[in-house]
Amino acid sequence: MTIHSNGYQSGFGNHFATEAIAGTLPVGRNSPQRVAHGLYAEQLSGTAFTAPRSENRRSWLYRIRPAAMHGTFSLLADAPGAKPRFHNDFGDGPVTPDQLRWNPLPLPGADGNGAQVDFIDGLFTMAGNGSPAALHGIGVHLYAANRDMHDRFFHDADGELLIVPQQGRLHIETELGVLDVEPQEIAVIPRGIRFRVALPDGSARGYVCENFGALLRLPDLGPIGSNGLANPRDFLAPNAAFEDREGAFELVAKFQGHLWRADIGHSPLDVVAWHGNDAPYKYDLRRFNTIGSISFDHPDPSIFLVLTSPSDTAGVGNMDFVIFPPRWLVAQDTFRPPWFHRNVASEFMGLIHGQYDAKAEGFAPGGASLHNCMTGHGPDAATFEKASNAELSKPDVVTDTMAFMFESRAVIRPTAQAIDAAHRQRDYQTCWAGLRKHFRAPG
Ligand SMILES: [Fe+2]
Repeated sequence: MTIHSNGYQSGFGNHFATEAIAGTLPVGRNSPQRVAHGLYAEQLSGTAFTAPRSENRRSWLYRIRPAAMHGTFSLLADAPGAKPRFHNDFGDGPVTPDQLRWNPLPLPGADGNGAQVDFIDGLFTMAGNGSPAALHGIGVHLYAANRDMHDRFFHDADGELLIVPQQGRLHIETELGVLDVEPQEIAVIPRGIRFRVALPDGSARGYVCENFGALLRLPDLGPIGSNGLANPRDFLAPNAAFEDREGAFELVAKFQGHLWRADIGHSPLDVVAWHGNDAPYKYDLRRFNTIGSISFDHPDPSIFLVLTSPSDTAGVGNMDFVIFPPRWLVAQDTFRPPWFHRNVASEFMGLIHGQYDAKAEGFAPGGASLHNCMTGHGPDAATFEKASNAELSKPDVVTDTMAFMFESRAVIRPTAQAIDAAHRQRDYQTCWAGLRKHFRAPG
């Protein structure tokens, strides 16, 4: 019942071509009258047909049965025992301008109740903006799971999924092949692609950004030049891998903010070969080529940009995925941690590994923080005191860390369940309470 990885192809947004059975891909055409081995041809378009060539993403799939074959969908919320915590209800009421922070989402069964929760049921919506209907904005989710998706498959018609594992590996079997990812790697599943998640370590926890807007892409590098930050060849798309399996299975779909379910009598992971550039991919964040100041001043965090979903305003992201990896700090006469700031953009942060250099305590791996538009934030009192008195004649190295940020141009609205959650730190603001007044008027 496991589809094993068939390896990867390297590159970002390349026109890949891969077949699990040699001689399957048609030559010189996309949809011949008859496809080899009795397969069906099906096009998957991730952008408008007429999108400019540089942005156009589509793939041709050669599969045992077309995606149209499944039972009638009904709302998952109506199924017995279903309590979906995965949605896009970001509310329309007041949004607190407070700084917000959460402890890690508890793993299912942690309280001894024996709960068995798979990746989809384990998704917990924290915040978001925009909507799938408007085709812009993001949903921000955490997941905590301890059960493989057995005879269950999922696709998200509302957006592509940027999955950021924090604890436990994920074995993600998609229509287009297998992605094996571990903490400090990321996976991106395009809109609509069906997949199943197994947990090789028995349990897993992490973060998901559901991107309703323009597809994630590598940022332009400007004066940095043709190398640096995330390099295209480090992105890996799966080679084709499939199963030919029939039975009483469930297909779960996310459509316009709600989860739906349908019976399906076969595995939809039945694509024997495919070609195109609308494909899942993975990337190891430890391969990020970090660039920083070698003279003075901490650069803006945009220098840590891995992937961006642009908006319709030049230079302004619908969502920017930024990481804070291990790096050398060498700038002189500089407050080396991130400075105090307020930002027109809104920032949802998580910690994948180790410790974040702007916070002495309280921001644990698996935790999260939200600093919305113009909400002041920055290092806590302990970090400020330490960095203000640091010896700067020597370089310092930040090791054992991997933090990230989903940054959005629009306010990221926390959900009611995130505000009410027991694991929200209701005393977060006190981390700045110890900042002493140092000012003394001259004379
Ligand atoms: Fe910030």
